Amino acid sequence: MGSDAVAIVLGAQLATRSHDTEYPFRQDSDFWYLTGFAHPDAVAILSTGKGPSFSLFVQPRDPAAEVWTGYRPGVAGAKQDYSADEAHDCGDLLDELPALLRGADRIYHTLGRRSEIDHKLVKVQEQLRRESKSGVAPASLLLDPRSILHEMRLIKSEAELAIMRRAAEISEEAHAEAAALLRPDRHEYEIQAALEYAFRRRGASGPAYNTIVAGGRGAATLHYIANDRPLREGELVLIDAGAEFEGYASDVTRTYPIDGRFRGAGRAVYEAVLAAQEAALTAIRPGTTLPEIHNATVRCLVEGMLSLGLLSGSADDLIEAEAYKRYYMHGTSHWLGLDAHDVGSYALDGRARTLEPGIVFTVEPGIYVASDDDKAPESLRGIGVRIEDDVVVTAEGIENLNSAIPKQPEEVEAWVRSQRTLAI
Ligand code: GLY
Ligand code: MN
Ligand code: MN
Repeated sequence: MGSDAVAIVLGAQLATRSHDTEYPFRQDSDFWYLTGFAHPDAVAILSTGKGPSFSLFVQPRDPAAEVWTGYRPGVAGAKQDYSADEAHDCGDLLDELPALLRGADRIYHTLGRRSEIDHKLVKVQEQLRRESKSGVAPASLLLDPRSILHEMRLIKSEAELAIMRRAAEISEEAHAEAAALLRPDRHEYEIQAALEYAFRRRGASGPAYNTIVAGGRGAATLHYIANDRPLREGELVLIDAGAEFEGYASDVTRTYPIDGRFRGAGRAVYEAVLAAQEAALTAIRPGTTLPEIHNATVRCLVEGMLSLGLLSGSADDLIEAEAYKRYYMHGTSHWLGLDAHDVGSYALDGRARTLEPGIVFTVEPGIYVASDDDKAPESLRGIGVRIEDDVVVTAEGIENLNSAIPKQPEEVEAWVRSQRTLAI
C-alpha cells in the first residue's frame, strides 16, 4: 500500500432472496482472505499511517437479535478472536471515517458497492481540503484495494494449498458416490443431491458453483443447471461439481457413461477430449502461459474433430479461422481459489502472464455437439464431453489435485461399475 495509506475493505452484506428471506450468508472473498471474519456487515480499515493498523467494524453483540440469527463475536470478539487493534460497532463507521482517513495520502477503496461510504469519503476529502490552511491535506490518490489483493490471492500459500487439497479430496469422494448412483431413468437432480450431500457431510459449505449434472444432449449447454431430466441408457452424463471448503473452491468435471460402458460415438468424442486434456497437462510448467496451454489444447481438439468428422480441411486453416469454436467455445483454463473463477490478472503489461509456483488453475477441454447441429454427423449430435482438473504450478511442473478421479475410459467404466455395490 505504501506509507501513509489507508484501505477500506468491505465485507459482504445479507442479500434478500424473496420478500423477507435471505440467501445464506457468504463472506466476500477478499474480506475472508484478510480477516477470516464470517459475519455480515463488517468493514476492515487497514492503515500504514499513524492510526491503528487494523480496525474492524462489526455488528455489536445483541442478545435479542442473536436469539434469531445466532452468535456474533461483537466488538470485544473482533479484538480478541480476530486480532483487530481496534474494533467498533459497524453503525459507527461513517462517524469514525474522518478520523481514520485524516493524514492518509492514498486511500484504497472500492467505489460503487456501498454508496453511503462512497459519499462520506468524498465529503471527508472536501472537509480536509477546506482545512488545508491548518496543515492537513486530502489524500492525493484514490485506488482500488483489489489491485493489490487479487495479485496476493493468485499465489497460494502452503496453508491455502492444504485447504484446496481437502476441497479436492471431498470432491473426489462426492464424484465416487455420484458415479455409484448412475442408472438409466434416475433423474439428474438425484445425482446432484448425492453430490451436494457428499460435500456437506464432509464439512464443506456446499458446492463452490452451481452443480451441473447434464445427461445426453444437456451437456451441450455449457452451464446447464436445470438438472431435471431422466438419465438415458447408452448416453453420457457430464458432471461438473466441486466442493467449497473453508471458502476455497474445487472445480472438477468428469463425463461418465450412464450404464457403465463407453460406446461408439460417445467413446470416440471422449477419447478426443481426453487426448487434448493430456496434451494440455504435459504442456504446463513454470514459465508457460495459459494461451500456450490453450493453443496446445485447441490443436489437439482440432485433430480430434477432424477424425470425428466434425470438421474437414487443414488443421492450420481451421485454427486460423477458429472453426473449432462451433464445438469448443470456451477457454481451457481459469484461475481457481476462493472464487471458482478466481481473481488475479491474466495479462501483465499487455502480455499473458507466465505461470509461477503457487498459481492454481483449471484445465478443462471439451467437445460439445448441439442436438440440432445439422452440420455434424448424426451420430455425434447431442454429445457433450468435458474433462476438468485443477492443477497447482510447482517448481518442477504441476500437482494435479484431481488425479485420483479416473479419466482413462476403462478406469472410468470399472470405477462406475465397481462402485455400484456402494449405491444406496
Ligand atoms: N464450473 C464452471 C467452470 O468450469 O468454469
Ligand atoms: Mn467446472
Ligand atoms: Mn472450470
